[in-house]
Amino acid sequence: MNVGIDHIATYVPNRYLSLKELASARNIDENKFLIGIGIKEMAVPSPWEDIVVLAANAGYRVMKEAGISPKEIGLLIVGTESAEDRAKPTATHVHSLLDISESCRVYDILHACAGASYGLLSAVDWAHSPKHKYALVIATDIARYGVGTPGEPTQGAGAVAMLVSKAPRLMKIKELSTYSKSTYDFWKPMDQKYPIVKGVYSVQCYLNAVKACFSKVTINKNAVFIYHTPYPKLVEKVHAEVASLMGEADNWRKHYADKVFSSNIYPSRVGNTYTASVWLSLVSFLETCYEGAIIQGISPIDAVKQHEGIYIFSYGSGCGAVLMQGELMDTWPTMVRSFQVRQALDDRRRLTVEEYEQLLETPALPMQIDKFDGSHFKYSGVKNEERQYSRISTD
Ligand code: COA
Repeated sequence: MNVGIDHIATYVPNRYLSLKELASARNIDENKFLIGIGIKEMAVPSPWEDIVVLAANAGYRVMKEAGISPKEIGLLIVGTESAEDRAKPTATHVHSLLDISESCRVYDILHACAGASYGLLSAVDWAHSPKHKYALVIATDIARYGVGTPGEPTQGAGAVAMLVSKAPRLMKIKELSTYSKSTYDFWKPMDQKYPIVKGVYSVQCYLNAVKACFSKVTINKNAVFIYHTPYPKLVEKVHAEVASLMGEADNWRKHYADKVFSSNIYPSRVGNTYTASVWLSLVSFLETCYEGAIIQGISPIDAVKQHEGIYIFSYGSGCGAVLMQGELMDTWPTMVRSFQVRQALDDRRRLTVEEYEQLLETPALPMQIDKFDGSHFKYSGVKNEERQYSRISTD
């Protein structure tokens, strides 16, 4: 059975900060951020734009663009590590905003940055049943480390929604290998505003996981390699390790340029999106490949033939990892045409460092949503201990 991803949609906040300006404000050589970490711009959410709003926007788009009614969704999974509640799932708010049926199974999955990937695999298993049709899996996160911290240039925000079906028009997906080990590399104690990160150790844990997962398969060096991307420079290091596993140690830079680089373009403009990061990397590869083929005047289907499948590696601190294999369907260009993520990134508003600092520290609203923000939903604060959400547009 060809179970997999029928369609993907992405939502990123409409405001961003230039890392060049952040470096200047922090008195740091800009090349540390632009080259040493590999990030140029990072998405900054507005106070009315929490993880529910990010997720609902991505979910709304994926169903609209795929031509699927919310009533056809039988399973809704949200992967996030930025939840605002320890009992009530984030997915319940998304379920309500998207007007999905009451007979839908609705829950969150928590495993740091890997939650949505585990959710996707659960949805793929679910969709194998003849009783089940469409599942909606949404990765949504806001990555925050605080002003002036080492993690500050690796913040970001965004959501990626994936529609799963047994007749996918985008790609088939299957699990190849998995890895789990209890570690304290990145964690969020309940009483702390920001995560605790052992930066160097977290990189080591990621490398151990990637080596364990890729060692269990015969690696096809002609495939594309998509990785979880906390920051693009880390992906270069990771790919150098994977290249040595497939006997390409001396050639890893060229291999990276051919098989990985295009997936790093959007993460370098959005920053870390935790659960959404690996999926934003996939979107970056697909849209870049599609647009490149159009510019060259060749068929996107032919352009992708130089690659023999897609490896997708998801990592979550704590830690767990899974290696998946994606195989594009012939209809993939039709689905990718509606992504329009590069355009959305180009159209964002640039914040000053002062505006960004105010937004990061603003505990509550109000901030006006303007007509250019493109959000269909908003968060409007807490009333009687309950978070308030509403729809602001129906087009
Ligand atoms: N020009 C070019 N490169 C420069 C530079 C300059 N002027 N100054 C520094 N660099 C390079 C460093 O050599 C280093 O590269 P390397 O990693 O290849 O050695 C890189 O920039 C970062 O410098 P470093 O001093 O290590 O930065 P830092 O102590 O401020 O921390 C992170 C960087 C990424 C560890 C920190 O931002 C962080 O903790 N982020 C979150 C980590 C995370 O997401 N972990 C999860 C993994 S799943």
